[in-house]
Amino acid sequence: MPALRRSDGVLELGSVSLADIARDPRFGTPTYVYDLDGIAAEAAELKSAFDDAPHLVAYAVKANSAGPIVKVLAATGCGADVVSGAELLLAVACGVPAAQIVFSGVAKTDAELDLAIGVGDSGIGAIQVESVEELPRISARATAVGRVARVSLRINPAVDMQALDTHSYIATGHDEAKFGVPLASVTDALGRIEGDRHLRLVGVGSHVGSQLTATDGYLASASALFTFAREVRARFDLTFVDAGGGFGIDYGDGCPVRPADFMRLTRKLQREMGLDDLALYCEPGRSLVGAHGVLVASVIQRKIALPRRWIMIDAGMNDLMRPALYQARHRIVPVVHAGEAMTAYRVVGPVCESSDDFGVHDLPDSGPRELREVAILDAGAYGYSMASRYNGRALPAEVFLRGGKVLTSTPRGSVDEWVQDRLRAPLS
Ligand SMILES: Cc1ncc(COP(=O)(O)O)c(C=O)c1O
Repeated sequence: MPALRRSDGVLELGSVSLADIARDPRFGTPTYVYDLDGIAAEAAELKSAFDDAPHLVAYAVKANSAGPIVKVLAATGCGADVVSGAELLLAVACGVPAAQIVFSGVAKTDAELDLAIGVGDSGIGAIQVESVEELPRISARATAVGRVARVSLRINPAVDMQALDTHSYIATGHDEAKFGVPLASVTDALGRIEGDRHLRLVGVGSHVGSQLTATDGYLASASALFTFAREVRARFDLTFVDAGGGFGIDYGDGCPVRPADFMRLTRKLQREMGLDDLALYCEPGRSLVGAHGVLVASVIQRKIALPRRWIMIDAGMNDLMRPALYQARHRIVPVVHAGEAMTAYRVVGPVCESSDDFGVHDLPDSGPRELREVAILDAGAYGYSMASRYNGRALPAEVFLRGGKVLTSTPRGSVDEWVQDRLRAPLS
């Protein structure tokens, strides 16, 4: 689905030459480039899985919090799954109705709870409760402003971690994870909500993990969730069940299942379990944006010490942390390829860490046209949103494409900004 192709050897995203962007003095490198049309189409395809049934695609803003992206997704009818007060404010500023926001997170501060309860006429759609201990805190904040806080219980379905086809760092729905209310505590949680007139249980949810490329773990979690929903709905006026996010994308090893496939199967299960009258929520992050963003970087130099060959680029782990954080692999391809023979190079960044390493990739040997830029593919999710200024590096620029041209951009951070920032605390 990503609109990547080569034209006369030049890599294009959304029909825009990535070489032109990299060489445009307004942008330069490293720069994230996103195809907003691809992102909108991705959301539309997922929404089609629901037909006309009540649903909410709550975009997990943490995957990519760029304003133009959140605005485009809001315009296609997506809600938002936020994990901080800042993301909540951003979602509202981007046009997501408060009622279509759910707030997940294991340690929400009082200030964040106040925001969630206080926004709009009656607060956000639901605060996703992740522990019994959170309930009296939410109730106290709601009582203080004379409101009723809508909550949903995010249960931890204790899915067998070995059975989940994902990296342990991004598996969340197993019994050692800090996420979700443990099954052993749900009775206590329900009792507390029932006895509290400032809390209203409107939904139940779960989220098992990220980058799932098979549906089994997701459906096992949904089945546990739906069983739970059937038990509690006699006591509570539930309006939704939230099966979470986690749909995988193809980072090069394939991903046979589309997000819409996950939701069609989940809807089928929902119907079979007699819960069809409840709205079905999901919380995709990566799958809406991941494949529609690339990180373009310039080659600084090669380093050859046979049998080792490196290509050093101007993007580092601070710009794209996933490889260093959880051994993720992104495909790296030349931006311009004139047919030169390829050799395996280890691609590394400038950051002073051994883990600043994007792995081994086939890239052109020196040829008539020296390799100037590379594109790191599938970098639209958990890329810029995790970027840091480590080593005094400027945050990368971002370019947003729509209708085959550059629509808008976020300028690169400046090195001077970093120096001034680090000098802010006076020593006197
Ligand atoms: C509660 C919750 N919802 C949604 C997501 C988004 O997951 P993904 O980006 O894999 O779709 C996450 C990520 O871990 C999460 O923890």
